[in-house]
Amino acid sequence: METATLIAANTQRQIGYVIVGIVLIAMATYWLFNWIEGRNEAGSEIELAANRKPHMSDEEMETKRLDLSLTSGLVTLTIIAIALPLYWLGEPGRHSGLVEFTDDQFVRQGEEIYAENCAQCHGSANGDGGLAADFSLVDGSGVYVEQVQWQAPSLAAVLDRYSYDEFKYILNYGRQNSPMPAWGGPGGGPMTDQQLDKVIAYIAHEQKSSEEIAKGVLDGLNGAALAKARGDNYDLYTRQLQLEAELSEVQHDIDDAPEGADTSALEAAKTAILDEHGPIVDELAALADEILVMSESDSVVLGELLFNNPAAAGAYGCARCHSAGWSYNANAFPENPLLPQIENGSGGFGPGLIGVADQFETAASMEGFIVTGTKDGVAYGRFGQGDGGGQMPGFGACWAEDNPLDFPRIQGDRIAGHCEGRSGILTTDQIAAIVAYERSLGGEG
Ligand code: HEC
Ligand code: HEC
Repeated sequence: METATLIAANTQRQIGYVIVGIVLIAMATYWLFNWIEGRNEAGSEIELAANRKPHMSDEEMETKRLDLSLTSGLVTLTIIAIALPLYWLGEPGRHSGLVEFTDDQFVRQGEEIYAENCAQCHGSANGDGGLAADFSLVDGSGVYVEQVQWQAPSLAAVLDRYSYDEFKYILNYGRQNSPMPAWGGPGGGPMTDQQLDKVIAYIAHEQKSSEEIAKGVLDGLNGAALAKARGDNYDLYTRQLQLEAELSEVQHDIDDAPEGADTSALEAAKTAILDEHGPIVDELAALADEILVMSESDSVVLGELLFNNPAAAGAYGCARCHSAGWSYNANAFPENPLLPQIENGSGGFGPGLIGVADQFETAASMEGFIVTGTKDGVAYGRFGQGDGGGQMPGFGACWAEDNPLDFPRIQGDRIAGHCEGRSGILTTDQIAAIVAYERSLGGEG
């Protein structure tokens, strides 16, 4: 399509140049002859005045001369008659060529904006996200808690979670209490509306396929199982972290030791640490394997793993919004009393889910909610408000509108029809498992 359009546009242009060339040469020739004849006339007006000048005979005039004039008139007319329709025939091609060209420009400028402003936290637009952002954690009254690394989710399936409007809402306002800043004017950010549209166009262009997403969800279960093994055996995991801290200290001392110094005591200490560390790592890995096997037959366990899915830096899971501390692994700070162990579903950016069965009477209604997520201003469940931009993502289908954000220039497979053939992030069975798990979190469900 693109090359065909380009070729069409080039042929049109060449024809145009030829016509302009012919016309210019004709004009120049006419002017030259006129000028030469005019020079002869100076001072000889009496002989050369048009009515005195001897001219061709009637015979000559009505044959050769007339034929010549008529033929050249006909030729010029034919050129114009063919060139005009040809020009208009090419117009749609030129138009779509221009549209494609501006689309490309739009997406390419979006790519630059992304590289300058987003990639340092979110990684590449089609990647697995998760470059952690440095963040100073403070409590409700602004007191410093800890310096943490907050994972930024992958954006490569963001249009399977949000509509364009919801996506833009996030860009406009950012995420409060997280490293994600506001980018748009409404939230006090630095970008114009058009810059946001450009970066959205670029990200839309880079989305992963449904197959890649589905595979990512399943691959993530390994990591979720290990995290569960660590959380369920917190003393063991804490000991592992302690040993790792000691190890890096000893290693530091070994590296800093002066040349030729006796480091055998340090080496011995290092060996002792490794001897204790290895079995703990192995034990937690074995426990994770058991959990993984259990999840094949126990949907509540599977639901817990899916809820905590670390794949794509949490983009396919729930914990990053519904469990405080998940995004910066609060479990890795056992020595900080202000950072208690992560409690699943304790609530973070999204509400706490313990006892959520009160909100949704039946599992089916709750599954339906997780398929669609929230819409700005639309109430849900028994008492859900649904305000705040529709920030609960929809996990069971693709949500990008066909005619997004009034940018008609972005079309083709780029944005219009983005959702065609896409199935969303989670399957019906996976969502049912998550709901079974959530309803086990307390409440009467
Ligand atoms: C300083 C790091 C940082 C920068 C820079 C940044 N983000 Fe984020 N962004 C985050 C973090 C962290 C989150 C997750 C917040 C949370 O846990 O709720 C996030 C969340 C998001 C989300 C919500 C995704 C979801 O499913 O919840 C979108 C969309 C997003 N960012 C887009 C962008 C875009 C586009 C840019 C560039 C214009 C950008 N971000 C720049 C750190 C950053
Ligand atoms: C990007 C953050 C985010 C992610 C990820 C997320 N949620 Fe939510 N969730 C929210 C927000 C925000 C609300 C509240 C919506 C509102 O009030 O409009 C919510 C509400 C809910 C509710 C209703 C709770 C109530 O008491 O009203 C349930 C149930 C829920 N989410 C389940 C899930 C499940 C299951 C997943 C994972 C498959 C998930 N959420 C992933 C942000 C998120």
